[in-house]
Amino acid sequence: MKEAQYVCLDDLENFAKKISKKIVHKNILLSGCMGSGKTTFVKSLSKFLGCTSVISSPTFSIVNEINFGKKIGFHMDLYRIKTINELLDIGFLDYIAKAEYCFIEWPEQVIDVFSNDYHLFEFKIVEETIRKIIFK
Ligand SMILES: Nc1ncnc2c1ncn2[C@@H]1O[C@H](COP(=O)(O)OP(=O)(O)OP(=O)(O)O)[C@@H](O)[C@H]1O
Ligand SMILES: [Mg+2]
Repeated sequence: MKEAQYVCLDDLENFAKKISKKIVHKNILLSGCMGSGKTTFVKSLSKFLGCTSVISSPTFSIVNEINFGKKIGFHMDLYRIKTINELLDIGFLDYIAKAEYCFIEWPEQVIDVFSNDYHLFEFKIVEETIRKIIFK
């Protein structure tokens, strides 16, 4: 299954709401260049999946803990990670194991860690105010 949609900021909530009903895996990977809208989308989608935390950009912290009621989730930005070993050293697999949902920006290095149990969203900047979001 592959879907692509052109989404401006005004459409994003509706798009995230619609997509949230199709989420069956807890690992949600978001790839796309800087400023393509990954974090903004995580804010919307996570809300529809029951996230009760305020999402901020984790760029300076690699991993942010977020809450789904009493359950725990994570929002990661792997932009600064150079090797998968760095990630394993900070307990990446433990995070994945205990997460209700795990959102991962810049996931290219870790895709092989997952078998088929993830969703991948690709973000492309079409224009200043429009993104193409591909859902695989
Ligand atoms: N669907 C969208 N349509 C138009 N603009 C958007 C959309 N999504 C995000 N933006 C805008 O793009 C900018 C960058 O968004 P965001 O921080 O979510 O990108 P990012 O992919 O997470 O970047 P980074 O790789 O640096 O973490 C913000 O100003 C945001 O408002
Ligand atoms: Mg981001």
